[in-house]
Amino acid sequence: MNAITIDTTHVRAFLSHEELSAVERDVQTAKNILTSHIGEGRDFLGWLDLPKTIGDNTTSRIKAEAERLRNMSDVMVVVGIGGSYLGARAVIESLQTELRPKMMSQSETEIIYAGHTLSESYYRDLLKLLDSKDYTITVISKSGTTTEPAVAFRLLRYHLENKYGHEEAQKRIVAITDAEKGALHQLAKTEGYPMYVIPNDVGGRFSVLTPVGLLPIAVAGYDIDKLLEGAREMRDVCMKEASLAHSPALMYAAIRNALYRKGRHVEMLVSFEPSLRYISEWWKQLYGESEGKGGKGILPHSLTYTTDLHSMGQYVQDGGRLMFETLLHVDKNDSDVKLPADEANLDGINYLVTKTLTDINHAAEEGTVKAHEDGGVPVIKIGMPMIDEYYIGQLLYMFEFACGVSGYTLGVNPFDQPGVEAYKKNMFELLGKPTK
Ligand code: PA5
Repeated sequence: MNAITIDTTHVRAFLSHEELSAVERDVQTAKNILTSHIGEGRDFLGWLDLPKTIGDNTTSRIKAEAERLRNMSDVMVVVGIGGSYLGARAVIESLQTELRPKMMSQSETEIIYAGHTLSESYYRDLLKLLDSKDYTITVISKSGTTTEPAVAFRLLRYHLENKYGHEEAQKRIVAITDAEKGALHQLAKTEGYPMYVIPNDVGGRFSVLTPVGLLPIAVAGYDIDKLLEGAREMRDVCMKEASLAHSPALMYAAIRNALYRKGRHVEMLVSFEPSLRYISEWWKQLYGESEGKGGKGILPHSLTYTTDLHSMGQYVQDGGRLMFETLLHVDKNDSDVKLPADEANLDGINYLVTKTLTDINHAAEEGTVKAHEDGGVPVIKIGMPMIDEYYIGQLLYMFEFACGVSGYTLGVNPFDQPGVEAYKKNMFELLGKPTK
């Protein structure tokens, strides 16, 4: 089976053999710390084995639940934030274009998100939209106490109960939360909502292959078995291979750390496929929350090309040399859109008529990589044969494994997020939250 690859051609000029060898040793040590469960945060390594341990019982239950929810809803609202939101959105949106919701047939269910914002105008419009839709809610929170999803869920629960009555509303809500504790667990138990568990040893940003990601992905109509299969294949490679040449995760972790050591403190994940935008958002959380601590860490940033070549492109080409790029390259597109020939050729693009849009996009990509390398920006190229559930599964696991290795290489605990509490403390004081 083909796999995700890492091409370092456009990085080589920026790193010496000695610099790479030094980081290779550190990355291999970090891999051992991770896979032997002896580093900081070792209580949160459940994600390492998830693609193997999730089991047919859980996936069958998720698929049956998804079918039930699909049958009763035009729309499912997924309520969650951070790790309880981004994984599902990343996978769902990578597998479709932004136009898909406008093209859906009546038998399909659109996924809409809530709990990821406190914007009043967003909820005004959402509640109005839901007045005319048949809908269900999946509410996701590991702690069960996060303010943003709690506020959204209160609003939506009342709307749903007013619309369908209490008894019917109970059937239209699914909760994904801790097995025993938290306000959401209590509420779901009291109300008798179907419940799914986020394992204790899996942190939010590593939870996409638990029900947190899998249930919304299945409701959206995508194949969670293929997603898990891709992740499983990548897991086997990550666990087994110790050489950079054979492990894309180790190679990626090594190169980004080597570049960081040389003062490249910003990493821009870029792609020429707009549907990968939320993969970038998920990746930003994964790396930002895992590595940005103790005054250290690469700042994760993302751009979508060619759109952003006409805005940020100038900076990347010619501004401060503080960044490197990681390009998500996609080989194949399953459509075949070609330009029609035009006799008058007033727009001057007849020279493109023998090519597909993907040929043109790939030429833009190749030209960009060369220009950026020439302009002093190293480019790590991650190759994906195509965008489907299997390769997205591989990509997610590769990024997760590389993140654990990279965090240990950097010398931080990649599995905590103490900094996230600071704004909450201030917000609670301002809002007068009771302390007990
Ligand atoms: O990765 C993390 O741990 C965080 O981003 C959480 O997922 C986020 O804060 C939401 O937390 P919870 O699922 O407890 O509501």
